[in-house]
Amino acid sequence: MPTLSATNDDAALPAKTEAGLSRPISLMINGTVCPFTDLRPDSSWLEVLRRHQGLVGSKEGCAEGDCGACTILLGRLRDGELVWQPVNSCIFLLPMADKTVIRTVEGVAYEDGKLHPVQQALIDHHGSQCGFCTPGFVMSLYGGWLNRSGFTAAELDDLLAGNLCRCTGYGPIIRAGQALAGLPMASWETERLETETAFLRACEDLPELAYQAAGVSYLAPHTKEAFSQAYLDQPDAQIIAGATDIGLWITKQNRKLAAFLSVQHVEGLGSITEQEDGVFIGAAVTHAQAADALGKDFPDLGELWRRFGSVQVRSSGTVGGNIANGSPIGDLAPALIALDADIWLRRGTETRQLKLDDFFITYGQQDRRESEWVEGLFMPKLQPGWRFSCYKLSRRFDQDISAVMGAFALKTENAVITDARIAFGGMAGIPQRAKSLEQALIGQTVSPAQGEENWIDHALAEDFTPLDDVRASQAYRLLAARNLLQKCRLEATTGTPLRLAGDGLAESGLCEKSL
Ligand SMILES: Cc1cc2nc3c(=O)[nH]c(=O)nc-3n(C[C@H](O)[C@H](O)[C@H](O)COP(=O)(O)OP(=O)(O)OC[C@H]3O[C@@H](n4cnc5c(N)ncnc54)[C@H](O)[C@@H]3O)c2cc1C
Ligand code: FES
Ligand code: FES
Repeated sequence: MPTLSATNDDAALPAKTEAGLSRPISLMINGTVCPFTDLRPDSSWLEVLRRHQGLVGSKEGCAEGDCGACTILLGRLRDGELVWQPVNSCIFLLPMADKTVIRTVEGVAYEDGKLHPVQQALIDHHGSQCGFCTPGFVMSLYGGWLNRSGFTAAELDDLLAGNLCRCTGYGPIIRAGQALAGLPMASWETERLETETAFLRACEDLPELAYQAAGVSYLAPHTKEAFSQAYLDQPDAQIIAGATDIGLWITKQNRKLAAFLSVQHVEGLGSITEQEDGVFIGAAVTHAQAADALGKDFPDLGELWRRFGSVQVRSSGTVGGNIANGSPIGDLAPALIALDADIWLRRGTETRQLKLDDFFITYGQQDRRESEWVEGLFMPKLQPGWRFSCYKLSRRFDQDISAVMGAFALKTENAVITDARIAFGGMAGIPQRAKSLEQALIGQTVSPAQGEENWIDHALAEDFTPLDDVRASQAYRLLAARNLLQKCRLEATTGTPLRLAGDGLAESGLCEKSL
């Protein structure tokens, strides 16, 4: 088992470089520098740890990012500070951890075997349950501990939403989490964090990673120019961001991809820039980053992100990936369409912008040419008189895909609707505007009235012919769409959020600080 060192000597970078590689994949696992030169780049981290590192504490429950049994922590520098992201190692690919420090469940206790307070709390409160789910719960709590998040019941609900227990329950685990509030960090723990931070600093100047093994290549350019050129040279390469979709193609569909082109280290793609008339969200911005930056100004977006997958999914999944995948049930597209966002596309040195709703053509087809990629999204400021709200309906509160997702931007004057931008997910083969409904609303009062079902249903039927599928029937989707509109109008009239989760969001403070 790798050991942790409190000295900086181990932070020396691997010097060895093999033919065909720009350099090895450079990272630390539980305090030990581990260069990788020959494992396939499409190997999942769960596979790497269990098969190649002998670290079998992380478990495989679902292999699709749902259960959290495989959770590991990834440390990166953000604004010079070490930040920890819990990720589902079953769908996180080997080279994606380049220039990071990894902690697995084997690296939580101190090297002399002294238990970490997180482990001790789980024992003391009878939260150490079966061998499948417990390692994941330990790692999620440990992520919260390292990031100094809060441990109230509401905060723990969010922190642990990506960890499932299929049998016993969550009470003892929540109580263990609550017991961690306010506990100090021991000096041995801060020392190992310093070692890891030193390693990450030393990694900052490493050249771009061009990795190849077993005939599969992985390139992680550092500039937009280099990325664009690489995609022109290799149009069949698979652009990869957080792999929360792509990881499942590999584990569930057994797809073999020959070449990956990563957005992860491209300068400027991972940041949100405030502009005079709005914000530009780089394609590689993660959902966690976006929720932190935008959730306060757009509380409904904050709430949407809180219900987007889990902490693990939000810490790797990106805004660009959620749009580029063209999914008809992706959560962000309807919200951003209603907010009148533009998508920025780039091919070589050429860039173009189009309205996000024009990007989605039909199921599985977007307005994207060969070698063209998504640089980011521009979200204009809401103009005076406009109000935005959005609602996700899914069968489960956490970690579930929407059956219907409704997003509404309404302009009102003297309590009358004068303009509207409305979009739905789950109602068509693409995220789509409800143009008939928008027209029908103009001139109506903001406050909903009795007996409006006919004209609303008529407009919705002109806009959509939803599918019957496992998530919902056509009739349910149409009824839900009407009810979401009425809920939005009622909220706009009363100024009171009408949702069960509203209090939870405020209490959790997740909009201000998420992982
Ligand atoms: C457990 C779980 C829960 C989930 N919950 C939700 C949810 O609640 N709501 C929801 O909407 N989705 C959900 N998802 C789906 C997924 O997390 C999101 O769609 C995510 O945003 C995808 O981003 P990514 O960075 O992981 O994309 P990747 O998997 O890396 O890529 C997805 C696709 O986008 C393309 N791509 C990525 N970036 C670019 C770019 N810059 N330019 C061009 N193409 C690009 C890739 O080539 C690929 O085709 C969930 C997934 C899992 C596994
Ligand atoms: S094994 Fe279930 S999330 Fe990874
Ligand atoms: S799944 Fe582990 S105790 Fe329930």
